[in-house]
Amino acid sequence: MKILILGSGGREHAIAWKLAQSSRVSSLYIAPGNAGTSSCGTNIDINPENFDAVKEAVLSTGTEMVVVGPEAPLVGGIHDFFLDDERLKRIPVIGPQKSGAMLEGSKVFAKAFMKKYGIPTADYRMFDINNTGVACSFLESLRPPYVLKADGLAAGKGVIILNSIDEALGELDAMLTGKFGEASKKVIIEQFMQGIEVSVFIVTDGKNYRLLPEAKDYKRAGEGDTGPNTGGMGSVSPVPFANKNFMYKVEKRIIKPTLEGLKKEGIKYKGIIFFGLINVSDEPYVIEYNVRLGDPEAQAILPRIKSDFLDLLEGIVNEDLIRRKISIDERFVSTIVLASEGYPGKYEKGMPVYGLDLVSDCIVFHSGTKEQDGKVITNGGRVLALSAYGNTLYDALQTAYRNAALISWKGIYYRTEIGFDLL
Ligand code: GLY
Repeated sequence: MKILILGSGGREHAIAWKLAQSSRVSSLYIAPGNAGTSSCGTNIDINPENFDAVKEAVLSTGTEMVVVGPEAPLVGGIHDFFLDDERLKRIPVIGPQKSGAMLEGSKVFAKAFMKKYGIPTADYRMFDINNTGVACSFLESLRPPYVLKADGLAAGKGVIILNSIDEALGELDAMLTGKFGEASKKVIIEQFMQGIEVSVFIVTDGKNYRLLPEAKDYKRAGEGDTGPNTGGMGSVSPVPFANKNFMYKVEKRIIKPTLEGLKKEGIKYKGIIFFGLINVSDEPYVIEYNVRLGDPEAQAILPRIKSDFLDLLEGIVNEDLIRRKISIDERFVSTIVLASEGYPGKYEKGMPVYGLDLVSDCIVFHSGTKEQDGKVITNGGRVLALSAYGNTLYDALQTAYRNAALISWKGIYYRTEIGFDLL
């Protein structure tokens, strides 16, 4: 089978790496990909949000399945675009149609959905420019920290948590007056929840679902969970506190009601759902839904899937996931993200990367890299992710960190305590 993967990050490299192991994948294309994905298949230099360019790539390569890595094309309706096109409609797209992608594309939709179907999540209220006075009073009635969420996609920057009421009021005003454009025309103010986060993933064919391994993501840029939020600076899987008892609650109170709710809303959802959860005294709550795999969670969970990932994707397409097998590696995988100094703010690109040839016992997933004159150079804030197996979390971390120390470029930085809270 010929498969096209859309996206350019570490998640897409991990998907490509996993699919390249399937004996039934004959050709793999990654659009636009990065310096790492070119070792799994052929990169095609197009923007995944340009649907006409995607169509041309699909038709010219004879692609038989499209796997969408990031959320933006899904929220933009790429699946619907395929279904509406005579020449594309029989080519399956892994990822929901626009109606299902609203779970990630609109926080207002997602919160109302959770409320309607009794899915545990923090209390909240929604405001827009017409009720700023009430919004300010509501914010002032809460205790810190204050949680503000832009309704729409804001390149991962739309959730802001502040300790000072003055800063929170300033941020609220900035958001409602267009800080994130259309995305922050509506803002959710939400009760802060104290707990520990975990990312839970399922694949679903619209009827049944299979759990994928869970992961813990480390979102802050700095040591000890300090500094600004990033896309994620590391991840580990499995997560020890996501034990049978906790996962039973997650399935019963969150996953099943979500799938039931989607059905009741008339939304046929085929693809991946990423439940961003928080464990508050052993009770799971939803922080957010995403409609794709996480990054860097994918780099920790895909190496733990021993069975053929294509089989699961075909189960989604053929709506027979119930019959598909998934076998999971019991070992731990830890993933350390190596980033460019300054990320998630301003950073330099184009730095030559040294030491890739020295890595051993570790999978190197590329995120922000490209090739220039046969050499790998940095091309993004998150540059590489190193994933290592271990029989214990400690072993997995030790191997990943031993290898991280062998890699260098001007301005490399990474957190040195990923996973330590779980040891
Ligand atoms: N690591 C979180 C995300 O992918 O959204």
